[in-house]
Amino acid sequence: MNGESLARQRLSEARSVCVLTGAGISAESGLPTFRGAGGLWREHRVEQLASPQGFARDPQLVWTWYDERRAKHAEVEPNAGHRALAELEARIGDFTLVTQNVDSLHFRAGSRNVLELHGNLREARCNRCAARRPLEPGVRFAGIAHACGGCFRPDIVWFGEALPEDVWKAAVAAAARADVLLVVGTSGQVQPAASLATLAPEGALVVEVNPETTPLSSYAQVTLRGSAADVLPRLVAPGSD
Ligand code: APR
Repeated sequence: MNGESLARQRLSEARSVCVLTGAGISAESGLPTFRGAGGLWREHRVEQLASPQGFARDPQLVWTWYDERRAKHAEVEPNAGHRALAELEARIGDFTLVTQNVDSLHFRAGSRNVLELHGNLREARCNRCAARRPLEPGVRFAGIAHACGGCFRPDIVWFGEALPEDVWKAAVAAAARADVLLVVGTSGQVQPAASLATLAPEGALVVEVNPETTPLSSYAQVTLRGSAADVLPRLVAPGSD
């Protein structure tokens, strides 16, 4: 039995499934990954944008970059990879989708139990009183100052910041009880998110879906070297092998 057939079989038998996704699952929707060719970080220095220091130095520049990303998110659609995970969730009693992405494409594809480790771009949060306000898709963010004297910032977890504790705890618990752990479209470069791929229990099947080898490949019993939009629909399609 080849790796894909083994993954299909184990998914069909699984009671509990955990999925970790990264920017790669949104590549075929037209969103650039961070570390691939033409990736986001190559256009902008990380320190200038995705950090509290960068925001303090130039909040307008940071909002401009996030507004461009939000506008792009509003222009694209979920792809077959996102949709396959939403279909899988409907079949598995205990299903948790942990994503590093902030593009909301998993929700738009119909996934429900989604843990956004790095936040999202649907809301802004005041950096002084933590008040939140919605960010309408496609609408440029206008006001930065908040009446309390603070500044609205993207509701994103920046470099050097802690992940939301409740979200992280739920993600760790889901990985630690999974019968199958899918690791899709992540370079495994950023912690602690990448460490989830190492938490699967004894006897679980860890499957990596990525065109390239990553530091997480060695934790996977099955590595499927292809794109998420090609591979995931085959893993969840009904029918015999
Ligand atoms: N299908 C599956 N995987 C793909 C595809 C595809 N079509 N295209 C690219 N990939 C893979 C790449 O091979 C790479 O391993 O997706 C991965 C993307 O890696 P990164 O760009 O590093 O994105 P990610 O792992 O999500 O980054 C993690 O870093 O910059 C921070 O907070 C940011 O959440 C992000 C985190």
